[in-house]
Amino acid sequence: MSENSPSSTNQFANKNNAWSARFSEPVSELVKRYTASVFFEQRLAPFDIQGSLAHAEMLAHCKVISKPDYEAIEQGLKTILQEIEADQFVWSLDLEDVHLNIEKRLVELVGDAGKRLHTGRSRNDQVATDIRLWLRHEIDQSAALLKSLQQALAQLALQHYDTIMPGFTHLQVAQPVTFGHHVLAYAQMFGRDYERLQDCRKRVNQSPLGAAALAGTTYPIDRERSARHLGFEGVCRNSLDAVSDRDFAIEFCAAVSLVMTHISRFSEELVLWMSPRVGFIQLADRFCTGSSIMPQKKNPDVPELARGKTGRVHGNLMALLTLMKSQPLAYNKDNQEDKEGLFDSADTLRDTLTIFVDLVPGIRVNRDNMRQAALQGFSTATDLADYLVKKGLPFRDAHETVALAVRQCEEQGSDLADLSLAQLQQLHSAIEADVFDVLTLEGSVAARQHVGGTAPEQVKAEAQRLLSGD
Ligand code: ARG
Repeated sequence: MSENSPSSTNQFANKNNAWSARFSEPVSELVKRYTASVFFEQRLAPFDIQGSLAHAEMLAHCKVISKPDYEAIEQGLKTILQEIEADQFVWSLDLEDVHLNIEKRLVELVGDAGKRLHTGRSRNDQVATDIRLWLRHEIDQSAALLKSLQQALAQLALQHYDTIMPGFTHLQVAQPVTFGHHVLAYAQMFGRDYERLQDCRKRVNQSPLGAAALAGTTYPIDRERSARHLGFEGVCRNSLDAVSDRDFAIEFCAAVSLVMTHISRFSEELVLWMSPRVGFIQLADRFCTGSSIMPQKKNPDVPELARGKTGRVHGNLMALLTLMKSQPLAYNKDNQEDKEGLFDSADTLRDTLTIFVDLVPGIRVNRDNMRQAALQGFSTATDLADYLVKKGLPFRDAHETVALAVRQCEEQGSDLADLSLAQLQQLHSAIEADVFDVLTLEGSVAARQHVGGTAPEQVKAEAQRLLSGD
């Protein structure tokens, strides 16, 4: 006999679970705890109620339930939402999950009408709906934070569009760049991360409601109607797929993994730049901690932790991929394990981005130290080679000539710009007095005058373009 039959003797409101009529012995306390999800999924509750409201409205519209029943359900669910928000709702382990806890309370509040809510649906499409609604909300919050982070980086780049620092390859001084240019590299990464989240949102934003347990339902439902009410862009087109796949969550975890990968690269540089041996930047005190034993220490804890948390987020992606791998159609209880890692990735992303949006404007730059570092390591050697090429030398010959000059400088402990014109002309007769224009740091960066180059003018234009939202 079904739960929804008017003649049902199964008084759900008075039982400990929704299926006890079928079983001859109760589960042990450990099994109960093992199989329950109620204590880690309560954040789904407002979305569960939202989904139930849309489902009940649709059932009433399609005349599967009566209007008075719908009104009672609506009233009851609103009361439950208030109870949950006021922290007055009593969650029970016996009722396994958020869905059954809410449903039982609804039956307590509105009687038989409450028992009709589950008509034409199953917890399988219900939970898939809840997760999608919750995840859509998370994506919107984190996408907005990514935009803010990108804007904060563009602001910092604008302040430092002509601040010169060494650019590195292999962590060896390579060529001078501007600090603004360096920072805008991250603005690009977070811009792509934003697009990835928006793209993922399209596939999250599809309604599984109506798929019921796996095969759909025999009631004359209108899936588009409940989907529209919930702001979904469309309905999942196959009921088996709708209740079983969690690829949308995996995609989100992959997108978060990439955001955190970018955050960890940025964090690594902040840690390095803040080391007294480098001394390029200072972070605001509110993102650092001291040492309990070494009074002089100011440690960049926030970037270090962000770097560390990246590992956990990558782990969550692996856990979800492995969870889904080889699962036969359709729903399996394995899927209940989709939540904790997914929640953790979403929380870590939101918290990390919120902190970094505040951290970036607090970065104080030590221009002198950056400039001094750029003056070391022959960072304009490529410029000298390019100069010779422009005077007619083949690049490989120019490269060799400059390598000899670098060796000479190393022997006498000087920089390329310290060589006299006479010394330079000994290296190659094509060298003239204008060579000193390219051997300066300013000349070097200014010469990279094209879209995506490090010339201050380009950096300024790119920062302004990002700030104007183009
Ligand atoms: N708590 C379950 C989950 O998160 C809800 C769906 C339960 N469905 C079932 N057939 N046991 O996946």
